[in-house]
Amino acid sequence: MKIMIINGPNINMIGVREKGIYGTKSFEEICSYIRSEGEKRGHDITLLQSNCEGKIIDFLQDSYFEKYDGVVINPGAYTHYSYAIHDAIKGNTGIPTVEVHLSNVHAREDFRKESKTAAACIGQIAGFGEKGYILAIEALEDYKEKNI
Ligand code: DQA
Repeated sequence: MKIMIINGPNINMIGVREKGIYGTKSFEEICSYIRSEGEKRGHDITLLQSNCEGKIIDFLQDSYFEKYDGVVINPGAYTHYSYAIHDAIKGNTGIPTVEVHLSNVHAREDFRKESKTAAACIGQIAGFGEKGYILAIEALEDYKEKNI
């Protein structure tokens, strides 16, 4: 499958920011882990990151025009207030998208418990660190197999 992995604002600072929550692995290490696990499963993996909402929306639109089979997105804090990213995921006319969070957002501050973007996705995975991206890829495989 052709899979686009999108990371949102501040995810590039993983390994530096709030290590007690996000751990000490660098963003680059996490990206190479995702790439190698994804390729091991036979997928074509594109890794993208932006701190800008509009750029993330451009990536999501590209996933449609460039005929991706699935998207995995960690929208960072945009999760909690971006209706524009919600609409962009919905507007992808049928490209299954899985939301991932490194931390368990449901066990943190109240504002993190709400996701404006998850309802546009086929599901959400939170709390399993970088393994969450691989679980999301597996969810896309299952989704494609069932052809829902
Ligand atoms: C995050 C959770 C968000 O609430 C936060 O703003 C992030 C990271 C996560 O991966 O756990 O930047 O998306």
